[in-house]
Amino acid sequence: MQIRFADARPAGDYALAIPAAGTRRPGLDALGSSKAAVEAALGRARFEGESAALVEYFLESDNGRRLLVVGTGAEASPADAAEKLGGAVVGKLLTSGETQAVIDLTGHDYDADAAARVALAAALRAWRYDRYRTRLKDKQKPTLAGVMIVGGGAGAAERYATRYAGVVEGVALTRELVTEPANIIYPESFVERVQDSLKGLGVEIQVLGRDEMAKLGMGALLGVAQGSVREPKMLVMKWNGGKNGETPVVFIGKGVTFDTGGISIKPAQNMEAMKWDMGGAGAVAGAIKALASRKAKANVIGVCGLVENMPDGNAQRPGDVVTTMSGQTVEVINTDAEGRLVLCDAMTWAQKQFKPKVMIDLATLTGAMVITLGHEYAGIFSNDDGLAGDLVKASDSSGDKLWRQPMGEAYDRLIDSPIADMKNVGPREAGSITAAQFLKRYVDDGVKWAHLDIAGMAWSDKPSPTYDKGATGYGVRLLDKYIADTVEA
Ligand code: BES
Ligand code: MN
Ligand code: ZN
Repeated sequence: MQIRFADARPAGDYALAIPAAGTRRPGLDALGSSKAAVEAALGRARFEGESAALVEYFLESDNGRRLLVVGTGAEASPADAAEKLGGAVVGKLLTSGETQAVIDLTGHDYDADAAARVALAAALRAWRYDRYRTRLKDKQKPTLAGVMIVGGGAGAAERYATRYAGVVEGVALTRELVTEPANIIYPESFVERVQDSLKGLGVEIQVLGRDEMAKLGMGALLGVAQGSVREPKMLVMKWNGGKNGETPVVFIGKGVTFDTGGISIKPAQNMEAMKWDMGGAGAVAGAIKALASRKAKANVIGVCGLVENMPDGNAQRPGDVVTTMSGQTVEVINTDAEGRLVLCDAMTWAQKQFKPKVMIDLATLTGAMVITLGHEYAGIFSNDDGLAGDLVKASDSSGDKLWRQPMGEAYDRLIDSPIADMKNVGPREAGSITAAQFLKRYVDDGVKWAHLDIAGMAWSDKPSPTYDKGATGYGVRLLDKYIADTVEA
């Protein structure tokens, strides 16, 4: 999607979108003789400018030009309204036959950032993945090629280019990785796809294979991988945009490229969804792409633990005891609780390697998280109130929402094992919390750590202002905003 900015509406053919903040509709004034008819139409549609309301009208006096009047709500802040506006316009026009859209903000009080966020939402909402749809009819194909934001004031174009264009790139990478099926994206091809995507951005890449991970003693990660013919990988992406020698922030992603459950096999119903069990790793790769694309002044390292969880003659069994890189042992009660087994070794390695002060992991870790929070918030678990606060704050303004969850000693007791240092599952109750307690046992003293359980957020069955149904790209905007507000501030 081509994004442009201008001070005044251009000449030529395009669909025109004007926001209505409740009953405030300054854009109608520029419609000349059509204004009265449009107002009458809005009245018939009982349009009150409420958020998400949209009326479509074809201007007789202007050769049938398509007009969209988009409600943004009278009370909404410009920033909130901005994303709904940009997304609504593109959602409506993407396959409409229109090739260009102009969103005219004239008369409203969008500052440079809000205007840039209209563009951000427009670009995000335009993303689709049609690689495997070889028989689309012309009418089903996207037509919209460009969106122009008019009247956003000085600085909007600059703000978009320096702050948000890279975020769009990052989100697109995450969505692509999450959307691709597991016969296409497995650990090795995940690495290749990310490597290609990051080419030329100055990100340093390191990849560990099975033998190296075995030498390092990553018995938990390798135990998950051993039932698969796909070789596990650890993908490390280093973005050194900050001060020389400044300790990096480390992001860790769960990258289970397919989760059958292993020997504790999942039911067939909806198992295809487990192609996106690498959503945490996808978000980490996308975040690194976003930060590198916009040349963030921060040192950030992304680590993705990539495995496929399959049942076969060599697969690990319930009851097996594995030794993690930390030296702690784990009784594998349920081979479907594999994410924590992958993450724990990735976390140990990353802490040993990079001595971070802050470590944030993202994982589609538990079905229980979806039961708790549905698809509105991801859960955040943390050993540090300051870090949790910063992340929740970043979540509020980025659109990738978080809600803090409790942790504590009593929950920790639930994963004690009679034969090993811990078991990989607790009872059914508080399943997301015991998963977090498991991970906490791998956090070094003094490291501020947060675990984001994004199981309910990586994929959506319904569209939103910034995505169509499918992969959401959750996490990229959150991590990007967190770095911008803390390390770069
Ligand atoms: N990848 C799943 C969690 C998941 C479920 C993500 C649904 C997204 C949607 C994870 O590996 C898993 O299987 N967790 C088990 C843990 C249980 C065995 C303790 C679960 O949630 O059922
Ligand atoms: Mn599982
Ligand atoms: Zn899983």
